[in-house]
Amino acid sequence: MIKISNRLNNLAESATLKMAAMSRSLIAEGKDVIALSLGEPDFETPHHIREAAKAAIDAGHNKYTPVNGLADLRKAISNKFMRDNGLDYSADQIVVSTGAKQSLANVINALIDPGDEVIVASPFWVSYAAQVQLAEGKLIELHAGIERDFKVTPDMLEAAITDKTKIFLFSSPCNPTGAVYSKEELQGLAEVIGSREGIYVVADEIYEHINFIGGHQSIGQFDCLADRVVTVNGLSKGFAMTGWRLGYIGAPTAIAKACTKMQGQITSGTCVIAQMAAIEALGDNLKRTYEMREAFLRRRNLVLELLGKIPGLKLNVPEGAFYVFPDASAFFGSSDGDTQIKNVDDLCMYLLEDANVAVVTGSAFGNDKCFRISYAAADERLIEAAERIKVSLGKLQPVAVA
Ligand SMILES: Cc1ncc(COP(=O)(O)O)c(C=O)c1O
Repeated sequence: MIKISNRLNNLAESATLKMAAMSRSLIAEGKDVIALSLGEPDFETPHHIREAAKAAIDAGHNKYTPVNGLADLRKAISNKFMRDNGLDYSADQIVVSTGAKQSLANVINALIDPGDEVIVASPFWVSYAAQVQLAEGKLIELHAGIERDFKVTPDMLEAAITDKTKIFLFSSPCNPTGAVYSKEELQGLAEVIGSREGIYVVADEIYEHINFIGGHQSIGQFDCLADRVVTVNGLSKGFAMTGWRLGYIGAPTAIAKACTKMQGQITSGTCVIAQMAAIEALGDNLKRTYEMREAFLRRRNLVLELLGKIPGLKLNVPEGAFYVFPDASAFFGSSDGDTQIKNVDDLCMYLLEDANVAVVTGSAFGNDKCFRISYAAADERLIEAAERIKVSLGKLQPVAVA
């Protein structure tokens, strides 16, 4: 038998990918599964970006690029940071990667020694935990529940800091909750970190463009955090380019250099065609991006209205991304006469098997009461899914659970 390393054996499988695999096997059995488990826009990549990629191929761009990305792209990203976020990262503080997932892995490996602590605002995106684990860091979860819109406060952050804290990591808009931090909320968090030495903020802004409350705010804008913020972004969500694999960071120069070193030994520069297309994407034509945002907003309202009619589900109003994260704890300790629901994992399996709707358990995101529904799907499917969820949850009656 092949002995897989302990490092990998101990690593959890991605819950979102696991749910996707289970839905696929039910679909293969002929079931009509509605998959609301994936974090992926269901739109086409905008036409002008696709055209730029075709032109890059025809112009013969087929060689390795610099490890940290094409100079023109890094310049375009530097301009974008200033234009959209008021952030001053020069082109040599930018590192382009094969998706924001790799950007995050680079940064975590660049900063974390074994035992260093990474404070994450919880609920958090699944891969943060796995990446910190691989780097032998210690994940410190700051739990914020639905009653406070899943947002952590400066007091919570202050209380979690120790002399081992190296990174504070969060996403806004947030996956899985859709929570968006306001400028004032970010300032409060910035002041806590700014008053300490040697702690860096990793701000995951991949959902920047899917924000329903106006302008996106970056934590890097505050002077008290000068040279302390790594801003992570990418094209997957705002430009419907998940498969193109292009992410990037703006970072203090030493961190950018370390990330380049790491990437130079693992993947080198990402696909040159995707990089050429990214130069186009990050230009001034954001019309499709805004149209997609409008479509997500409409669907969010639709999903909230439909789920709001289901007794027992507790909802808040997500202000960005394309997820809702209902609290389903009212159903724990219930049964349909056949399946017992002890926790949110059981509930998600029940919804998959009984309603044939795939959602993702909150426990994968550090929350054991909620589950994530992605509304990046057609309206008819969302309506059908909500109806099926309502029927299945309606069958659950309280029981004494052993
Ligand atoms: C919060 C968050 N960060 C990063 C990523 C990774 O994005 P990419 O496709 O650029 O690797 C995702 C993708 O789901 C995400 O939800």
